[in-house]
Amino acid sequence: MKKSKLWGGRFSQKTDPEMEIFSESLSFDKILAAYDIGVNRAYAKALQKIGIFTRKELDRILNNLEHIAIEFQAGTFPFEPGDEDIHTAIERRLTELTDGAGAKIHTGRSRNDQVMTDVLLYMKDKNRETQAAVRTLQKNSLALAKTHRNTVLPGYTHLQQAQPILLSHYLLSLFWMLSRSFQRLEENFVRLNVMPLGSGALAGSAFPIDRKFLARELGFERVSPNSADAVSHRDVLTEFSGILTQISVTLSRYAEDFILWSTQAFGFLTLSDAYSTGSSMMPQKKNPDSLELIRGKAAGNIGRLTALLSLEKGLPLTYNRDLQEDKVQLFAIVNNALPAIKIFAQVLATSRFHKKRMKEAIHPFTLATDLADYLTEKGVPFREAHAVVGKLVRDCGDTGKNLNSFSLDEFKAYSPLFEKDVLDWLTIEHSLSRRNIAGGTGPEAVENSLKEAENILKQETNG
Ligand code: ARG
Repeated sequence: MKKSKLWGGRFSQKTDPEMEIFSESLSFDKILAAYDIGVNRAYAKALQKIGIFTRKELDRILNNLEHIAIEFQAGTFPFEPGDEDIHTAIERRLTELTDGAGAKIHTGRSRNDQVMTDVLLYMKDKNRETQAAVRTLQKNSLALAKTHRNTVLPGYTHLQQAQPILLSHYLLSLFWMLSRSFQRLEENFVRLNVMPLGSGALAGSAFPIDRKFLARELGFERVSPNSADAVSHRDVLTEFSGILTQISVTLSRYAEDFILWSTQAFGFLTLSDAYSTGSSMMPQKKNPDSLELIRGKAAGNIGRLTALLSLEKGLPLTYNRDLQEDKVQLFAIVNNALPAIKIFAQVLATSRFHKKRMKEAIHPFTLATDLADYLTEKGVPFREAHAVVGKLVRDCGDTGKNLNSFSLDEFKAYSPLFEKDVLDWLTIEHSLSRRNIAGGTGPEAVENSLKEAENILKQETNG
């Protein structure tokens, strides 16, 4: 059989071979094969309902779609050089196998509504997979937070030691950041759950296809309310990509902390060998490559998200071939973000945190706020108290003294309001205990936060 394009009728000249290569998308959209087969299956049934296919033809179509699915699973699907994309490849193969009945499958359908339907099905799966991966990471951070209820470390702002915090508090910050990403995924899922099929090229199919039936068959919640929107929009795709990119960026920040923590200078953490690599030259090296790649790969996703937004900007309605490029970015973002979430969860579960070292690293200056608060509680306006303690810290710099090495008399030289109990204020435990405000790093507040986090995960397993 002489091969011709699906759209060959109107054309008298062949496509330039370089143009053929330039315009193909099969090399990347073939991962949609299973979704495209599913869409064809549902669509064939819908066509039979309106008399395009006889019952016998439908059976043949369904059997052959099954056959094609097996070919894909076995890796034996016979691609042809002229297959432009996964949709044309499957339609071509179906037509070959059904002695022509397959030639009716595209009745009232366009690749414009077809491709978006396939991609939405793909995104729905990947959205769920990401939700599960995020939950695993949250579970691991919660479990670790529970084992580090009493571990203290310096909290940083500007990468300068700021105030002491509990390690559990730090780890829960990841839990809560991810819980917002999880919510975003759930919200995005609602928008992914709208079926474009039946929109045709742009104006809606002219055949009375039962769209509700199609949606049920394909597991979509609703049918799209506007065909021009359905074939043009990529906002839910960009939204999903944005959520994944935000997760990549969030993980990159924690990766950065852990990389620092694993340095000799910090010594807060030792990564498992399973997530580190050595140096080809320096025998002593153990490098945090897993975390560096999580950080490095986030950069790629920022670029890809920008590419998606740029792709949409300035596109006239409705479909334009530019939109084929959305998948290049989307697939790469998914393939980049999902493993990062899974690897980070494993890094968390297998790293060793060095409690003693973390505690020793806390500089007494991190209690300076508490010292100012002490005076504030004695009635000194905070700004004045801040200045008194600021002077004290400055003098420490000159004399080499520390806040915790002042005698009461020396304190009194700065303010007569300092009394014996000031020395009790200059401990990490005291500092933490003053921060039991909701959301604070005080042990009781953290305990509440742990419970709240636990409940969120529990509700899910029950619900
Ligand atoms: N491979 C194309 C894509 O991914 C399919 C749509 C082609 N539609 C068209 N009108 N040329 O967008």
